[in-house]
Amino acid sequence: MATVVFQHPATRTSAFERWWQCQGTWVEPLNQRRDGESGVQRLLPRNPSHPLLYSKRQIGHLYRSLRYPLGRPTILRELNAYQAFARLGIRVPKLIYGSTRKHEGQWQALLITQALTGFVSLEQWYQQPQGAERTRCMLAELGNTLARLHQGRWQHGCCYAKHVFIRIENDETASPRTEIALLDLEKSRRRWRTADASRHDMRQLKRHCGTMPDEDWQLLMWAYKTALDD
Ligand SMILES: Nc1ncnc2c1ncn2[C@@H]1O[C@H](COP(=O)(O)OP(=O)(O)O)[C@@H](O)[C@H]1O
Ligand SMILES: [Mg+2]
Repeated sequence: MATVVFQHPATRTSAFERWWQCQGTWVEPLNQRRDGESGVQRLLPRNPSHPLLYSKRQIGHLYRSLRYPLGRPTILRELNAYQAFARLGIRVPKLIYGSTRKHEGQWQALLITQALTGFVSLEQWYQQPQGAERTRCMLAELGNTLARLHQGRWQHGCCYAKHVFIRIENDETASPRTEIALLDLEKSRRRWRTADASRHDMRQLKRHCGTMPDEDWQLLMWAYKTALDD
């Protein structure tokens, strides 16, 4: 039988507080914008057999819309997109905890995800030597994934090579098995038309595709358009 530990309400620490207290090293320098701040830390597990976690921490980092004229933590929009992408069959990091609270008059927000193990970003992909067949499979799967997203009328909104993750498994007998995952969904939103989502994300990815050679971009566009037409 499970043991239930009762604590006096005054001494009870909320799940939010416990996660907020977990601190690690910053992945990138802290962003200060939207009248607030946002940053991501790596959390090393106490037990080395447990996976590494990433913790996005925000203070007063809000977006405003007609529905939320007073502002709403961007992590809530990201959480919503995590669910929508998963429903479309698009892989996103496993969500461990996501929540917000008002603390001394200011919003705080947390998004804790499990590290995508065995994946490299599209940016890193082009920093290592890759065989032509592996790259062809990766681009085909990336094209499929982006087409699925846009057919679902979702726009990633921050479609940069550093937010596209790839895992490829070599099986000697068949073509390499590729998986694509997307992250940083803070700006993701629905569009009325597939064409709007497509135009936005593909232009953005072209500008932020790192050192992808032009012939690879052409292959990606070919795979993407073929998948959109299917
Ligand atoms: N679950 C995860 N697995 C692997 N890498 C991650 C994960 N979450 C975040 N990262 C890394 O941290 C970086 C920052 O996270 P991101 O969601 O882009 O936050 P920000 O809003 O600060 O840009 C990402 O570009 C990626 O390299
Ligand atoms: Mg980012």
